[in-house]
Amino acid sequence: MNINDIRNLIAQMTLEEKAGLCSGADFWHTKAVERLGIPSTMVSDGPHGLRKQDQESDHLGINDSIKAVCYPAASATAASFDPELIEKMGEALGDACQHEKLSVLLGPAVNIKRSPLCGRNFEYFSEDPYLTGVMATALIKGIQSRNVGTSIKHFALNNQEHRRMSSSSDCDERTIREIYFPAFEMAVKEAQPWTVMCSYNRINGVYASENPWLLTDVLRGEWGFEGYVMSDWGAVSNRVAGVAAGLDLEMPASGGINDRKIVEAVKAGKLDEKLVDLCCERILNIVYRYVENAKPDTIWDKEAQHLQAAEVAADCMVLLKNEGDILPLSKEDEIVFIGEFAEKPRFQGGGSSHINSFKTTGAVEAAKDLKVTYSRGYDVASDDAPEAMIAEAVDAAKKAKVAVVFAGLPDAYESEGYDRTHMRMPESQNRLIEAVAEANPNTVVVLHNGSPVEMPWIGRVKAVLEAYLGGQAVGLAEVKVLFGDVNPSGHLPESFPYKLEDNPSYLFYGGEPAGTEYREGIFVGYRYYDKKKMDVLFPFGYGLSYTTFEYSGLKLSADAIKDTETVDVTVTVKNTGKRTGKAVVQLYVGDMEGYQNAVRPVRELKGFRKVELQPGESREVTFTLGKRAFAYWNTQIHDWYVETGDFSVEIGDSSARLPLKGTVRVESTVELPRHYDLDSIYMDILADPKGREVFGPFIKKAFSAFGSEQEGSTEAAGEAISEEMGMAMLNYMPIRGALSFGGGVPEDVMQDMLRRMNE
Ligand code: BGC
Repeated sequence: MNINDIRNLIAQMTLEEKAGLCSGADFWHTKAVERLGIPSTMVSDGPHGLRKQDQESDHLGINDSIKAVCYPAASATAASFDPELIEKMGEALGDACQHEKLSVLLGPAVNIKRSPLCGRNFEYFSEDPYLTGVMATALIKGIQSRNVGTSIKHFALNNQEHRRMSSSSDCDERTIREIYFPAFEMAVKEAQPWTVMCSYNRINGVYASENPWLLTDVLRGEWGFEGYVMSDWGAVSNRVAGVAAGLDLEMPASGGINDRKIVEAVKAGKLDEKLVDLCCERILNIVYRYVENAKPDTIWDKEAQHLQAAEVAADCMVLLKNEGDILPLSKEDEIVFIGEFAEKPRFQGGGSSHINSFKTTGAVEAAKDLKVTYSRGYDVASDDAPEAMIAEAVDAAKKAKVAVVFAGLPDAYESEGYDRTHMRMPESQNRLIEAVAEANPNTVVVLHNGSPVEMPWIGRVKAVLEAYLGGQAVGLAEVKVLFGDVNPSGHLPESFPYKLEDNPSYLFYGGEPAGTEYREGIFVGYRYYDKKKMDVLFPFGYGLSYTTFEYSGLKLSADAIKDTETVDVTVTVKNTGKRTGKAVVQLYVGDMEGYQNAVRPVRELKGFRKVELQPGESREVTFTLGKRAFAYWNTQIHDWYVETGDFSVEIGDSSARLPLKGTVRVESTVELPRHYDLDSIYMDILADPKGREVFGPFIKKAFSAFGSEQEGSTEAAGEAISEEMGMAMLNYMPIRGALSFGGGVPEDVMQDMLRRMNE
């Protein structure tokens, strides 16, 4: 159906039918208009599997959904740093949607991990907007390649669960643009998700669901979004304002109440009917895009997807520590797996993304053909450390060559709907790890969690493998990585601080009662730790391998470019170890100019590439950097702006290990609007060529006027302050000083100069 057909259909609809189309038929369906043959379509969570509810619907997963395949959650998939892998996972999800007649899979969720406390962190990719954007774009491309839609969510600034349906995320313009928007922006521009889901929260006081700046000016006007916007489930406060703002579909059903409000508003002349038409047009476009491409005979091979889920999970695991190369383990050795998560792994989080897995493979089952024994170690349902269980585990650990403790966060610790209150693991598990490590120096810890945890025992264990929430086949993946069938290649998509209090949002996170202030601004995650030169437990981008890589030969295609041009950065990465492995080459850009320029992070991730290399093999990798890699959001022009100057380009395998560094000068082609008056300071005027031209000849006079006022006489000034010191002090002096400090420059001459500078 082309756009004219859709408009014709809408022209035949009554106002009531049109208003009705703007909300769901029930929890998961868009409305049908039988009279006109308009079909109903189904949407479903998402994002890392299908949570299709055939029977009784509810949105927090209380009722069962169909049996499906649970892939690793976004916290894990981000750690793969491998968009191709995630795109393939998306293709598989798309096939499943086609098979199940789903028009839209509700995801990916791309909110930034602002604090380790956010209950939904496990569903989110990263603390870094670029990494989040690349991974989300890949997932969307994969799913939509199968002609089903996605719903990138939650737009925007939904970074906590505390008071999630009413709280206001109070954030400055630059931070929104640099940290919280880019993932949405990249995905919209590069993958055109069929739908966007707006968030529950307010942004600077205005609900996302009725925010015209967000849903219309930015999303559609600036980024060119073509699909429909749906509300998060129950996110609508004022439906009429929502229609006017660009919220097309309210979910779930509003029981007709809001539909009637739309009708009344149109009849009362308070809402333009054309806006209702527009909502219908956008919804129907997507409805028909799916219906006309539906392929319910698509095969959904769950067993094959289970194995794919294991492959993805293995490539997401992050090896955090490996003292004395204790890993990989030998299949000949007696090993004990300790901890309930070895048998019943925690592989996904609670809430709307909870998948009813058709099967689960834990590590104990995956290792059944190896010399592996099992001891339960703790009861995941309780924080108490039962002495008998610990004693049994210690006993088993003593008899084994290596003890592997499977630990992490229980379901109740992190979930949709509420935030964590601390960053600790259950005391029972910490005590178990300490006791096992005491009994056997060869202790390895495998972690299952969606967000950082404190590791008080880190110095006493030999190895740590971060599995995140690795999906239903996580056990298969863990055994492959632990025994060396797969070489770990995940890298941390977030910093692990030593303790919660180190996190930049710590002082303000949560917020009471109306809002949460994003006072740390752009300094989220490593942007903060690097700027403060703070040590962290594990830095952003970090991850070990069973082999080693060397970086060399950094080349930049130019020493200097204009901000309208690009520069190519080439580097060679070599596998210098004995095993095949995958390197994650990371590129960070930093503004090297001093404090006189805009405040910038030390470095920001602007490129990465995962490269598989045989032992001894090397490969050249090239990145192309354009304006956005160097720009910051300038609030004077409300646009991206590059401040002329030198930029560092650093390459390495984590934000903290960047052995190669180059420099490129970038020249701005954009002139910032300027206006000078008597309050303008010397420094700004003299930084501007026009200012230097007009004001330069008077600078001596101004200086002597300033100096004589300081010391009573020019001779005295010469003794007390050198010319250099005087000039430095003068920097911050408003030029009116040249008048008030003793008439160095007559006022009419000054006014004439201002006029010329403002021309
Ligand atoms: C969640 C969304 C989800 C929706 C439907 C909401 O509570 O925030 O992420 O897609 O429910 O289940």
